[in-house]
Amino acid sequence: MRVRRCGVLMLEPGERIEFDLLDFTTGGSGLRSTATWTAFAPHLADTIPVSSAEAAALGALSPTVWIDESTFVKTHGTEVAAGLVGKSLVVEEGSDGDARDRKLREAEWRPAAAVMHFASRWRGVDTEAIQQRFVEELEGELLDRLGPAPPPVRERADASARIRLEKPARSPFDALLDGRVTCRNFAADRAMPLADFAAVLYRAYGARIVDDYAPGVQILKKGVPSAGGLHPTEAYLLVRNVEGIAPGLYHYHPVDHALEPITRLAPDEASALARRFVGAQAYLVGAHAFVIPVSRFRRNFWKYRNHAKAYRALILDVGHLSQTMYLAATELGLAAFITAAVNEVDIEDAFGLDPLEEGPLAVTGFGIRAAERTEVEFDPLHAVWKDG
Ligand SMILES: Cc1cc2nc3c(=O)[nH]c(=O)nc-3n(C[C@H](O)[C@H](O)[C@H](O)COP(=O)(O)O)c2cc1C
Repeated sequence: MRVRRCGVLMLEPGERIEFDLLDFTTGGSGLRSTATWTAFAPHLADTIPVSSAEAAALGALSPTVWIDESTFVKTHGTEVAAGLVGKSLVVEEGSDGDARDRKLREAEWRPAAAVMHFASRWRGVDTEAIQQRFVEELEGELLDRLGPAPPPVRERADASARIRLEKPARSPFDALLDGRVTCRNFAADRAMPLADFAAVLYRAYGARIVDDYAPGVQILKKGVPSAGGLHPTEAYLLVRNVEGIAPGLYHYHPVDHALEPITRLAPDEASALARRFVGAQAYLVGAHAFVIPVSRFRRNFWKYRNHAKAYRALILDVGHLSQTMYLAATELGLAAFITAAVNEVDIEDAFGLDPLEEGPLAVTGFGIRAAERTEVEFDPLHAVWKDG
């Protein structure tokens, strides 16, 4: 059997602090520091603790040249070799770990970006509970602890030296922009009209035309820009309350402007799954449709191979999609939200997405705004909430 090191790996040195009573009672600080190593291994979509001997062995192994497992064991010892193979950080040729590693290599990720992406995915995180603990621990002293925020603007010239620009005459576009207020109060029990749902999806995610750019290369023209015109980000949907569409999980086909059913859900299952997707932010769960931008990494990295900016471009694409969805919803008198505090792993599991091929970068959604505000929204212009 031959082995080699996985293709993409980052080792992070850290420390574990423990209380040492003996040290404390004999005049020491009572704190014992132990050096630790964590392996960030995107092909496993996980982070894995390793010993310092394992870390040293990983540093010495080639990710390219296969060597005999017996040579590996002879050089690094049975324990280290078994540990690293068991953790799939060293892969045996033909094993599952090897298949995952090859898949990641073939995706052409920039290594640092792959580490960043896979290290920032969550499963089952309840942001409400974390926030609650944070507030309780600080006993209302949050602002005292944080200190003043950096100023809202970095001023580079004295006010007298600024070249003042004229504001445009107010247009319908200004009204649209002012009315774009992130919604945390949805009329959860009303159904969203199907035509509105379809219109928002089409304007943000629909392809207006497919262009045969070159043999074997089709690119889409959409209402939003995308790096290389590739539009690697597609909409996966959790429909909660839309007229004529059963609650459930769907994929939006941007060329056919059609929903592809994935899983049907009972209404309470849909709400529970939505809550999980958005890290338990209860005020978002009432949204009628959740639109999850999922990036197909290879579609972008096919062109931008091992490129320092490619992952950033994916994130920027999502920003354009989200803002367009916000504005399309606002124009129809609907309301939208976006959150980055999302449980990516739960989303991948629910939609059956292979994280080595595609993954969610945010959760957005839209629907009918409630008549009354119980959760805070940021509307200092009173464009939506006239009563202050
Ligand atoms: C990247 C990003 C992440 C956000 N995450 C959250 C979130 O986790 N929860 C939430 O309620 N709002 C979230 N928001 C919405 C912001 O809180 C909101 O845009 C901000 O308060 C300004 O309000 P406005 O959008 O109404 O102008 C997010 C916005 C962006 C762009």
